[in-house]
Amino acid sequence: MTSAPCLTLPDEAPLDLEARPRVFRSLESAVRRAGPDGAEARLADLRAFLEEDLAGIERDLETLELGSTATHKSAGHLIACGGKRLRPMCVALAARVGSGFDAAARDLAVASELVHAATLLHDDVVDLGERRRGSPAARMIYGNAASIFAGDWLLVEALVRVRRTGLPDVLDKALGVLTEMLEAEAMQLDRRGKLDGSVADYLRVVTGKTASLFRWALFAGARAGGLDDRAARLMQTFGDKLGVAFQVTDDLLDVDGDPERIGKELYADLREGKATYPLLVALERRPALRGDLEQALAGGSVGAALAGSVSLAMRETGAIEETRALATRLVSEAKGALTEIGADDRPALQALIAVADAIASRRK
Ligand code: IPE
Ligand code: IPE
Ligand code: MG
Ligand code: MG
Repeated sequence: MTSAPCLTLPDEAPLDLEARPRVFRSLESAVRRAGPDGAEARLADLRAFLEEDLAGIERDLETLELGSTATHKSAGHLIACGGKRLRPMCVALAARVGSGFDAAARDLAVASELVHAATLLHDDVVDLGERRRGSPAARMIYGNAASIFAGDWLLVEALVRVRRTGLPDVLDKALGVLTEMLEAEAMQLDRRGKLDGSVADYLRVVTGKTASLFRWALFAGARAGGLDDRAARLMQTFGDKLGVAFQVTDDLLDVDGDPERIGKELYADLREGKATYPLLVALERRPALRGDLEQALAGGSVGAALAGSVSLAMRETGAIEETRALATRLVSEAKGALTEIGADDRPALQALIAVADAIASRRK
C-alpha cells in the first residue's frame, strides 16, 4: 500500500538570503511565492519554517496507541497517509504569534488533526469516497464499520488532549464546534440531491462543516500562546474566512482538479448531489442543466458523460472563475482580520498570511 508523503521540504535554496537563519529564509520565500504552482511551494516553505513543531506533532500522531483491530488499523492507515496538516499548522502559527509552541499547543494541534481525520473517515463512508490522500480510502480496506468506529475513537482521543491542556474555553469551544459540524452535515444530508438551495444555505453548511474547525484551530493556538481576547477574536475571524475559502476551493477542485494531485476522485460532489457554489452558479447561468442532473440524481447515478458536461458548462459559464474569485475575496477578508491584530512584522503572522495566500490558489 502506498502512502502519500506529506512533509516535503523545498529542494531549492533562496538565492540571496544565505546569512539568514534557515527558518527565516523559508518564511521569506513562502511570503514571496507567486504563480500557478506557488501554493504547493509556499506550503512546503511554511513546513520548513515549522519543521520542529510539525515533527513533534507527527511523533504524537505516530505514537497514538494503535491496536490490531480493523478499527485501529483504519485510523492508522488514514493518519499514515499524510495529508497537508493545515489545521495543526494553524494552531502552531497562532501559538507562535504569542508566546510560542509548547506542549499544550502541541496537544491542541494534534487534537485538530485528529478531529479532521475523524471527519474524513466518516465522510468517506457517507460520500462513498474510494480514494483519500492518494491511497485507497480506509473503508475500502477495512470496511465502513471500522471507519465509523475509528472516527469515533479519534474524536475521543482529540477531546482527551484538549481537556488535559486545562486552558480556558478550549474544551467548551471544541464541543461547540463538534455540534456545529454535526448540524451542518445533517443539513447537507437532508439537502442531498436537491439543487434548489441558495448560496446562503451553501455558506451555512460550509461554515459549519469546515470553517468551524479552522476557527477553533486559530482560537486554540491563540489561547496556547496567551494572546489577549481581542487578538483571539480576530484569529477566529481569520479562521472562519479561511475555512470557508478552503472548502470553496475544495468544491472547485472536485470539478476542476487533477485527481492525482488531490489524491481523491473527481466529481464526488456531483455524484452525491451536493449543491456546491460552482454548481449553483452554473445552474443559474445555464438553467437547462438542471433537468438532466435532477433526473440522473433521482435515478441514483450521475454518469461520467453527464459529469463531464456539467464541468464543461461550469467552465463555459464562468462558474469556475467566479468560484476562484469568491475564494480570493474570502482570503483577503481573512487577511484583513489578521492585520487588525497589529505588529505584523511578527514572523508567525507573516506565515499565517502566506497560508491564506496558498489556500486561495491551491491545486491540492
Ligand atoms: C479535506 O481536507 C476535507 C475538507 C474539509 C475539504 P484537506 O484537504 O485538508 O485534507 P488533507 O488533510 O490534506 O488530506
Ligand atoms: C468536507 O467535505 C467535509 C468534512 C469536513 C470532512 P467534502 O466531502 O467536500 O470533503 P472531501 O472532498 O471528501 O475531502
Ligand atoms: Mg467527501
Ligand atoms: Mg470535497
